[in-house]
Amino acid sequence: MDVYESLVDVVGNTPLVRLNRITAGLTAPVYAKLEYVNPGGSVKDRIALSMVLAAEEAGALRPGGTIVEGTSGNTGVGLAMVAAQRGYRCVFTLPEKSSAEKVAVLRAYGAEVVVCPGDVPREHPDHPRTAAERIAATTAGAWLADQYNNPANPRAHYGSTGPELWRQTDGRITHLVAGVGTGGTISGTGGYLKEVSDGRVRVIGADPEASVYSGGPGTPYAVESIGLFRHPETIDDSWPRSFDTAVVDRFEPIGDRESLLTARRLAREEGLLVGGSAGTAVAAALRVAAELGPRDLVVVVLPDSGRNYLTKVYDDEWMREQGFLDGGVLDDDPATAPVGRA
Ligand SMILES: Cc1ncc(COP(=O)(O)O)c(C=O)c1O
Repeated sequence: MDVYESLVDVVGNTPLVRLNRITAGLTAPVYAKLEYVNPGGSVKDRIALSMVLAAEEAGALRPGGTIVEGTSGNTGVGLAMVAAQRGYRCVFTLPEKSSAEKVAVLRAYGAEVVVCPGDVPREHPDHPRTAAERIAATTAGAWLADQYNNPANPRAHYGSTGPELWRQTDGRITHLVAGVGTGGTISGTGGYLKEVSDGRVRVIGADPEASVYSGGPGTPYAVESIGLFRHPETIDDSWPRSFDTAVVDRFEPIGDRESLLTARRLAREEGLLVGGSAGTAVAAALRVAAELGPRDLVVVVLPDSGRNYLTKVYDDEWMREQGFLDGGVLDDDPATAPVGRA
């Protein structure tokens, strides 16, 4: 029989698909790693599984225990999926800018969701990560996944995403482009690819323009789950330990408008319905590819599906309210044409 004995065996081994239309005029091939094909719908299934297995092995998570995490959604979905199978309870704290779809999905998996204000410094008791730490400390049998500082996060990518890309491209990959949230994807995948290629593979971080990672001011931005926002009153602004900055050769800062319009183009021109952070990554990959030739090979990571953002990126009214559909863009531009237009 050609079957899987468990859903967790389906995590990873996602397809690598060439971008064909959005890359018009470029000679360097650009391939997209479709992480939304994972069973929980995002790249975070990989780290959810790896963090839970490591916690079980270390005895930090025991039968009947509770998984707690401050997550913008996708890590919660991955953890909730693994937890449902293994009989754990889940409590997640989310910033209020998280899309309604993400909250609804977590609740559908049976998780408890605590929505936290988005405009408080890290030290405030209601900050999502501070609240998660408190809940974990005061709940019997609780384990805090802590994706920002958990070594099992980058290790998951070092052990799976990186080797998959090397195998899928037959060792021909020359550039990796990915967004940086916790830094797990870029550090683990990029770290592996650099090692296996004797340092040949270049690693580029795709970052929201305002994000601290690429030297921005840390002011708010619209793209979810990537970059580093810094509340003006935050004292502890240390970068996540999951992020090995030495792996990144350079950052491409991308504005919200370009990120979100690129995501919409991916849906309309490539048939890839993806989230805003995939738009950031592809916008950066197109800039990188423009400097390269046919002997190079660019891989860009598409972390999650656009179904998570139907009320945002793919909602014309929301896009217009944010000012992303105005500003002299031609009506026949496939990125800005209204959703639902024939
Ligand atoms: C949609 C999406 N894009 C990108 C990322 C960034 O990945 P990482 O945390 O591995 O840096 C995340 C992680 O939170 C995500 O959920």
